[in-house]
Amino acid sequence: MAGKTELIEEIRSRVDLVSLVGEYVSLRRSGRRYVGLCPFHQERTPSFTVNPEGQFFYCFGCKASGDAFEFIMRLEGLDFPAAVKLLAERVGLRWEPQTPGEAAREKRRSALLRLNAMAAEVYRRALWAPRTGAEAREYLARRGVERATAEKFGLGYAPPGPRTLVEVFRRYGLRLEDGVALGLVLPSAEGYLDRFRDRLIFPLVDPRGRVVGFGGRILNEGEPKYLNSPESELFAKRRFLYGFPLAREAIRRSGRVVLVEGYLDAIAAHRAGVDNAVATLGTALSEDHAELLRRFATEVILAYDGDEAGQEATVRGLELLQRHGLQIRVAVLPAGQDPDDLVRWEGGEAFRSLLAAALPLTEFLLQRALAKADLSTPEGRAAAVRACLPALAEVASAAARETYLRQVARWTRVHEDTIAKDLADYVRETRKNRHMMDKERRDSNTNRCDVNLKESSAHPAEKELLRTILKEYSLVARIKEELKPEDFTPGPWRELYNFLGGLSFEGPPAEAELLRRAPEELRPLLRELLVAGDGEDAPPLRPEAFAKCGRRIKAAALRRRLAELEATRIALETAGETGERLLACLREEQTVRQELETYRTELGFGV
Ligand code: UTP
Ligand code: MN
Repeated sequence: MAGKTELIEEIRSRVDLVSLVGEYVSLRRSGRRYVGLCPFHQERTPSFTVNPEGQFFYCFGCKASGDAFEFIMRLEGLDFPAAVKLLAERVGLRWEPQTPGEAAREKRRSALLRLNAMAAEVYRRALWAPRTGAEAREYLARRGVERATAEKFGLGYAPPGPRTLVEVFRRYGLRLEDGVALGLVLPSAEGYLDRFRDRLIFPLVDPRGRVVGFGGRILNEGEPKYLNSPESELFAKRRFLYGFPLAREAIRRSGRVVLVEGYLDAIAAHRAGVDNAVATLGTALSEDHAELLRRFATEVILAYDGDEAGQEATVRGLELLQRHGLQIRVAVLPAGQDPDDLVRWEGGEAFRSLLAAALPLTEFLLQRALAKADLSTPEGRAAAVRACLPALAEVASAAARETYLRQVARWTRVHEDTIAKDLADYVRETRKNRHMMDKERRDSNTNRCDVNLKESSAHPAEKELLRTILKEYSLVARIKEELKPEDFTPGPWRELYNFLGGLSFEGPPAEAELLRRAPEELRPLLRELLVAGDGEDAPPLRPEAFAKCGRRIKAAALRRRLAELEATRIALETAGETGERLLACLREEQTVRQELETYRTELGFGV
């Protein structure tokens, strides 16, 4: 095989998505596509579709979509290289390490994995050895971890002797320097010594079931409480989630993952029957974690410690997870308790109901803002309202925002109208700030702006128009003149229009070809549109409807421009500007208003 790209293309052309998916999902044919129950969320009526022509899947329910690689990655929780390897084997291509360098790396990795596997086995045996492991087993019993659970997690015990592991490695002819690289042994004046001694051992198992490192807890009080494997060629803390291989199936089935902080919290969660729980090692949630979770969960429930550090970590994690498109709820633990304490003291049921009662993100943020407030004085109540504004401003749906607003009003005993006014001011302020920042960034004549804080969902007309274009590709050439990409709402649909406008096809493009040429981030949208245009129920738009869509998009663009001009004008006026810039702004505002007026009369009310 020549190179990686060729290999990937070769796999893509050989894999039959319908039969691949068919191994996990029962599919039946329906017109041009196959349908079945979505493996990525729970449902009773099938909304998961596989499109053989485009070789992609798309779920109407949870919007999951992708190609064969993405299907396998998400279903098996693998990263891209692992998915490539798996599919290569499936279609009978040999996955050869590509270069001598890579081959050497591969060899070294397997040598290191062998050491870890050996160590895990030594520790495991020590834990269950009658005499050696007695104290550690007592410790586990005190912490409520019974044998079955300990075995499930592969727990072990590092005996107190200085050379238990060193001697085993020697006996098997394994390189002790490799042991050093893995943080299992330490060089010293008296030769090599074990690094983990007299500790309860938590093997760190990766998604492929390989031991990549260890955590070791001291049995009594002492420092450090946990000793962990250092970062190595096998182990990166920022990518690791403890308990993942055990939780994978439950996460996939429920679409939901419970995130805790510690080894014993993850273990306690599983004991409580919460088998979709995984732990970050401590509180530092990373981009890589979020990415991994997003691959097969849609919702994250954070169940971090009930202390201030845990809560702050929660708040930091929220933004990150949100940015990766995950829905978030927060389980608020009693102050000073972690999930393990809760399960041990109050039982599994208590933990499960706490998770069931986890607060949606906004509610959590509001409660947190209010918990710190002093509601007994007018100033305190005003401060409480102010603290709530950022969370309220983030709520996308107007109906939901109104409900939350009413709640805040009830809690703070400030009148709803007053809060609504404060919120409007706040939104205007942030808008203005964002607008000013944005203005500095962009060059003068392109029309990018995010004046509308929450205008992320495209104008439905944009979607309809694009859907029709995909059906009748010749339309692109015709409307390209009239509708500039800038007329679309800033964001992915605009990018998609831009992309389609830049292509040249003789006839209607083949779906697979189109998907292959599209930038990765646009593929989900493209699939959505292709599937939406599939059925008889969604014929392409007729010419007059198509034209109307175009006008709607134009009008929306004008409205955005108007909002932008208004914001600029307000900013200029606030700054005391009265000269040429203000005048120019007013003049353009006037023109845009007039132009918008003509669209309004053409389209009727409610443009
Ligand atoms: P915690 O201090 O909350 O400990 O650290 P814990 O998990 O509740 O453990 P117990 O109940 O006291 O036995 C949470 C996680 O942070 C990492 C470990 O992964 C731990 O599970 N940690 C903590 C360390 O790596 N080193 C430390 O010294 C402490
Ligand atoms: Mn604990």
